[in-house]
Amino acid sequence: MKSILVTGGSGFIGSNFVHLALQQLPDCRLVNLDKLTYAGNPENLKDVDADSRYRFVRGDICDADLVNRIFAEEEIDTVVHFAAESHVDRSIEGPAEFIRTNITGTFTLLEAARQAWLSDAASAFAGASANKRLTPHASRFLHVSTDEVYGSLGETGFFTETTAYDPRSPYSASKASSDHLVSAYGHTFGLPILITNCSNNYGPYQFPEKLIPLIIGNALEGKELPVYGDGKNVRDWLYVGDHCRAVLAVLQGGEVGQTYNVGGNNEKRNIEVVHTICDLLDQKIGLLADGRLRRDLIRFVKDRPGHDRRYAIDATKIKEELGWEPSVDFEEGIRRTIDWYLEHADWVASVRDGSYREYYERQYGER
Ligand code: NAD
Ligand code: DAU
Repeated sequence: MKSILVTGGSGFIGSNFVHLALQQLPDCRLVNLDKLTYAGNPENLKDVDADSRYRFVRGDICDADLVNRIFAEEEIDTVVHFAAESHVDRSIEGPAEFIRTNITGTFTLLEAARQAWLSDAASAFAGASANKRLTPHASRFLHVSTDEVYGSLGETGFFTETTAYDPRSPYSASKASSDHLVSAYGHTFGLPILITNCSNNYGPYQFPEKLIPLIIGNALEGKELPVYGDGKNVRDWLYVGDHCRAVLAVLQGGEVGQTYNVGGNNEKRNIEVVHTICDLLDQKIGLLADGRLRRDLIRFVKDRPGHDRRYAIDATKIKEELGWEPSVDFEEGIRRTIDWYLEHADWVASVRDGSYREYYERQYGER
């Protein structure tokens, strides 16, 4: 049985991944280590709480004692590392937590894996080939990262795995730093690492600070829809289920030491995304109470400082080497996402008004 440590499993992508992994890997045991910051919501996983293969640990990836204890107690042989501060705007308002969690937290996990998997950590200094002998062949450290590490594109071109790093926000700089640390642990110590760099995800359980769930929620409530700058920034949208399948594919078939770019082939300007959501909601649930179209709620607001203009992923490598490609195009994915938010009105309301915290503060104490 594989023993997988998933970090950040109570967040958006992490909770989708936990659901998929428990379905697809019947022989795995899965430990979710999550601090439950504002972005972590145990409600996302309440349907798997009773699964005997699943254990939740509330804790911080920067807590070395706790992380080492989990490695030992659970005989962890696989790490899928999602935990991070993930929101660009928050990193502009307050970068410190991004440096702590994304860099120090990743370092703490790497050290724990090195100590657990390289049986004589001291001999790790002898060189990568010696280390490989010491590393259990089945162990894997998969670090989930972002296309934002590559910076911003002009009108044309795509990010490939060899594009030079050029992070431009505190968030992307912290992720770039963590990618470099992961890569360095592979080169220097022979730790069996893998890195994925993915484009913008959307779908169920996304926290409503991100563009798509924010716009759906505001449009449902008849509130203004803030579009930064001229609305022409481009993102490459990937349905979260497709991303989770890609992570599994890399975990199971990826070549140790390699990076894989994951993208949706769904480039859209932000304003197109907002228009699509408005039009679909008008069709599905009718116009606003006062008879206006939801597009009337759009407001162009002050731009994000340093706002990257365009991201687009070339996902040829993962397609050719692992046979993965996205299965959900944007038209289908946005319909599914809107339906999910309409069908989960209680989840949406509790996350938008903050009452989701009461449930978990009862269970786990103050944040
Ligand atoms: P999220 O913000 O929804 O969830 C992050 C989770 O990490 C939360 O459950 C939070 O409680 C937990 N966490 C935060 N700090 C922690 C700490 N110190 N210790 C333990 N747990 C902690 O994030 P997401 O959107 O699900 O992103 C997951 C990962 O994927 C991140 O590493 C992010 O950089 C990367 N990524 C996200 C996207 C995207 O579009 N959302 C795209 C590419 C890559
Ligand atoms: O590209 C991958 C990245 O995608 C991930 O690494 C990040 O964790 C994730 O947050 C996301 O970053 P973005 O900054 O692209 O996502 P966000 O949803 O914040 O914004 C998407 C676009 O929409 C971006 O161009 C900014 C714009 N925007 C965003 C918000 C919140 C608006 O126009 N209005 C808004 O209110």
